Amino acid sequence: MFVRKINKEQPNIISKERKIMARIALVGASSRVTAFLGVLRNEIYKGVHEVVAMFDIDPGKMEGFKEKYKLDVPCFTDFDEMCDTIKPDMVIVTTVDATHAEFVIKAMDRKIAVVSEKPLCINAEQCKQIRDAKARNPEVFAVTSHNARYSPLTLKVKEMIDKGVIGKVLRMEYTEMLDRKHGTSYFRRWNSRRACSNGLELHKSCHHFDKMNFLLDSKAIEITGMGDLTYHGQKNPHKYEGKRCHECEHKDVCPDFFAYDKELYKSDAIYTPDLCIWSPDIDIEDNYAAVIKFECGVLCTYSICAHSQYEGEVIIIEGETGRLEAKNVYFRDINDQSNTHDTNIITQQTLTLCRFGKGEPESIEIPKGVGGHGGADLGIFGKIFSTPPDPNIPTMEDGIQAVLIGAALVESIKKGGNVIKVQEMI
Ligand SMILES: NC(=O)c1ccc[n+]([C@@H]2O[C@H](COP(=O)([O-])OP(=O)(O)OC[C@H]3O[C@@H](n4cnc5c(N)ncnc54)[C@H](O)[C@@H]3O)[C@@H](O)[C@H]2O)c1
Repeated sequence: MFVRKINKEQPNIISKERKIMARIALVGASSRVTAFLGVLRNEIYKGVHEVVAMFDIDPGKMEGFKEKYKLDVPCFTDFDEMCDTIKPDMVIVTTVDATHAEFVIKAMDRKIAVVSEKPLCINAEQCKQIRDAKARNPEVFAVTSHNARYSPLTLKVKEMIDKGVIGKVLRMEYTEMLDRKHGTSYFRRWNSRRACSNGLELHKSCHHFDKMNFLLDSKAIEITGMGDLTYHGQKNPHKYEGKRCHECEHKDVCPDFFAYDKELYKSDAIYTPDLCIWSPDIDIEDNYAAVIKFECGVLCTYSICAHSQYEGEVIIIEGETGRLEAKNVYFRDINDQSNTHDTNIITQQTLTLCRFGKGEPESIEIPKGVGGHGGADLGIFGKIFSTPPDPNIPTMEDGIQAVLIGAALVESIKKGGNVIKVQEMI
């Protein structure tokens, strides 16, 4: 069993009694799980962890996935049947966001270790259910895969804050840009339907909210926000509006035509990731802003635009004795739809420290990241899959805290900017 023994004084200490080998079931034949698969196939984990099964509601997708990624494991369309038959030690949940909670809770109640992709879930009700399940099963190893906090730039900022380089943190500005390649990709997929994702406030911004919680070592208490669908969807009617690109009458002329991977999506009956970006069915925001108050007293202004000219983020942290400015932006050809995370990009990554009383800003060196998401993937995967796992991995509660901010922001936007008490959402 992939469980850990709880030491009441140090609940994060992993017991040496835990068996090293984990038989892992993939819950979701997703694009995302290929990153986990890649690392589990690495020499380091051979004979340590083994992928033994896959579950998804779409048999055609699983068939395509197995062929494309050369994975020879039994596949299931029923989660309980998979667990009863295979008895995995661990499940990695990478299904659509709205469904994580169901599998996370079932896994914990079956005493199966669980790694859930972010966002852990999509609303406060699911947060409560997960918190209750964790309380019933405190010994079960359960992690939220908040990789973004492990980017070298974020870790460097965290190190400097914790060392007191800028003194007590007083305020933060967080600006996120998704360009018209990456940002628009969400509007071709299930992410653009609130029932599946509850919006980018959960799906995308949970990364940023987790980073704020992590950097400030605090949690949000109040939030107010406004948002709109300003570029994609119905409000911006397009002359080539349709349903799905591959069956659209305008596919030969539409500049936004997108060809999905037909080898992966063997059957187009359930879902294909080529939904029309101008569809009236899109019911999430692509542009929103918030003011968030944290328990530690920090006020944070946050904004995201999912149709920006270029991609990246700028984080400014003002402290009592200094100011940090972290910038990670990149420029690329947004018309090349071949790969969302492509390589032909011009990157600008800087970290600047301004010490009060000194005229000259200081340029801080940022360690180079290796692998997916600028090094963030290896940062978290190394911690999850090491034996024993690193105790400092994002917990279920960390996942819940990021979701609560997103859910409270959705609520505030819905109510025209009302202030929402974040912790009272549950
Ligand atoms: N941490 C990161 O950097 C990162 C990056 C990308 C995606 N993700 C997360 O990974 C997850 C997968 O995202 P993706 O873009 O790879 O998705 P995807 O569309 O490639 O795959 C989602 C899968 O879920 C399946 N599915 C749909 N409804 C289901 C249900 N009711 N039960 C079981 N399976 C169901 C679909 O058939 C599909 O195979 C999401 O939660 C996303 O937020 C995380």
